[in-house]
Amino acid sequence: MKTVNILAIETSCDDTSAAVLQNNVVLSNVIANQEVHRRFGGVVPELASRAHQQHIIPVVDQALQLANIHKNNLNAIAFTRGPGLLGSLLVGVSFARSLSQVLNIPLIEADHLNAHIYALFLDKPDKVFPKPQFPFLALLVSGGHTRIGIVRDFLDIEFIGDTIDDAAGEAFDKSAKIMGLPYPGGPEIDSLAKTGHISRFRFSKPVIPGYNFSFSGLKTSFLYFIRDELKKDPGFIQKNLNDLCASIQHTIVEILLEKMKFSTKQTGIKNIAVAGGVSANSYLKKVFHEWGKKEGLEIFFPDRGFTTDNAAMIGMLGYLKYNKGLFSTLDVTPYANNDK
Ligand code: KG4
Ligand code: ZN
Repeated sequence: MKTVNILAIETSCDDTSAAVLQNNVVLSNVIANQEVHRRFGGVVPELASRAHQQHIIPVVDQALQLANIHKNNLNAIAFTRGPGLLGSLLVGVSFARSLSQVLNIPLIEADHLNAHIYALFLDKPDKVFPKPQFPFLALLVSGGHTRIGIVRDFLDIEFIGDTIDDAAGEAFDKSAKIMGLPYPGGPEIDSLAKTGHISRFRFSKPVIPGYNFSFSGLKTSFLYFIRDELKKDPGFIQKNLNDLCASIQHTIVEILLEKMKFSTKQTGIKNIAVAGGVSANSYLKKVFHEWGKKEGLEIFFPDRGFTTDNAAMIGMLGYLKYNKGLFSTLDVTPYANNDK
């Protein structure tokens, strides 16, 4: 098999990332987090674009150095075309287009959401990870999306379910914000929930038919619940923080699990994968593995480092497209949402 060196760039939201892959093996995966957004309680698009401009060259340099690959030995450059923040995507797209022209190597666009799923096929130089067999069901849970897909083959995903309002990641982030926790709320809730009781507070789950999700009702009922309790006791959040985190996390995970139970029953598919930022959640991982064990299902999560936004997953999708000669032209522009 030919050895292919790919440089990948990811700039869809608030992390600037560059990775170097040799086939599906991640030689380096550098992620520069943008601290600038934290005091605003969410991502400020204008600031994100500016931070990407500052970070992109040092991040790419570092990725090449860590991988010990000279830029002249790259076979292709892959980048995130969308969906994401347009100003942020533009930085990565422009950089990738220029580098492709200067080095005279193919340019490969990657869809950020599909790439999250292909993160399951990455390996490290010293570690080969277990991989799902086709076809498998993919639950994609990120900050902006919650989807269920049937993955029939490489580059062949059919999405059968989507959220009709908020995403699972948003449910974590907004609940955290209501409790006064910093952004992003998912990891904060995950760690605070570890010493809390999952059934201390009960929140109603939405009744949505089929494969689709809804999270906005949960967020609203959480908001009203907290508001009412604060009226009775201003110290309510502080006194109950761990239980609140465990209970809201449990409800979000239950909503996801119920849809996946329905999907496996409907499709008969027994290989299940979870991907996207929320797949870093330790409770979700535990609950899904327990379900898999009980039902005889194979459950897969990407390696921890490849769950939240990273360029390695963009490189993986880039590698799959490279093998099929699916290249972009130099006039390619980003897309902000899936409608392109
Ligand atoms: O995939 P991702 O990094 O970016 C998008 O494509 O949106 O996902 C970000 C989302 C955020 O909502 C963040 O709170 C959530 O993933 N997240 C988590 C955890 N780590 C990140 N949610 C729950 N538990 C975590 N440990
Ligand atoms: Zn993402």
